[in-house]
Amino acid sequence: MFEHVAVVGAGFMGSGIAESVATVGLPVIVYDVDEAGLERSRRQLDRSLQRAVGAGKLDATARDDALARIEHVTDLGAIAAADLVVEAVPESETLKVEVMRRIDAEVDATTVIASNTSSIPIAQLGAVVSVPERVLGLHFFSPVPVMRLVEIVRALRTDDEVVDRARAFVEHLGKQPIETKDRSGFVVNMLLVPYLMAAVRMYEDGFATREDIDAGMRLGCGHPMGPLSLCDFIGLDVLYAVCDSLFEEFKRPEFAPPPLMKRMIAAEHLGRKSGRGFYAYEA
Ligand code: 3HC
Repeated sequence: MFEHVAVVGAGFMGSGIAESVATVGLPVIVYDVDEAGLERSRRQLDRSLQRAVGAGKLDATARDDALARIEHVTDLGAIAAADLVVEAVPESETLKVEVMRRIDAEVDATTVIASNTSSIPIAQLGAVVSVPERVLGLHFFSPVPVMRLVEIVRALRTDDEVVDRARAFVEHLGKQPIETKDRSGFVVNMLLVPYLMAAVRMYEDGFATREDIDAGMRLGCGHPMGPLSLCDFIGLDVLYAVCDSLFEEFKRPEFAPPPLMKRMIAAEHLGRKSGRGFYAYEA
């Protein structure tokens, strides 16, 4: 288990991870580079915890206690006392490598460093820190406070004891761990991405409308969201980066992002977060 958690990167995923940690009674430090990022994170936490209260999952006292356990910082030195640091910065290998180096410079040799990457090899991230045996992947799913799965990614050098502690931690969060090897896409994205890209190609080819493609999978297969809605929810830029990593690793056409995705990203049609993706969203 871990008692003092820090999350580096206060975006949608990082804030969701912090919320999950704080609601089970553990203190958590959330770092981002600037105050604007932290402010966005505070707003997301308020909204998401309020949603949990509205759904009867938390009472108002538990919500306030959870918020009080979250400390937002712009000084990376504040993570020094953490026994687990979860890296949750945007999905760019260059950025993640740099952030791993910076985390390593702040913590001692006993701190476990986890990456929330969805597709970058953990071995590559572990290679730049002083104790690679203490590095693993903890891949959460979006929206983190709601989704119950965490993939535990064991790299070639990850210690067994680190994996055991991570599993206990994930279970303490009330989530279900599954263990996977250190291959791009792990278990879930390796299955999900070809499905989502097939839906984008189907739409791009004019085979069916976006509504019918989505309704097909919602009503025909019981999925909570249709594939194009899910692309918008994940974010087309995030998905593109995941496709790229998968394609780079396996060179299989089902992982290649369709041209429409590239054009949509260029036009800033990134999905829910930019107000426009396959569908339009209110601000
Ligand atoms: N924090 C943030 N957003 C939340 C949230 C939370 N705690 N809970 C729900 N949401 C979002 C929804 O997307 C949507 O936003 P809106 O209110 O602004 O329109 C809204 O909340 C929908 O909520 P509803 O109350 O209408 O619906 P439910 O709460 O019943 O279900 C859902 C929402 C849980 C997101 C459900 O639709 C679902 O399970 N969708 C599939 C999600 C999924 O597949 N996630 C995995 C993505 S893949 C991934 O993360 C891997 C990565 O590496 C790419």
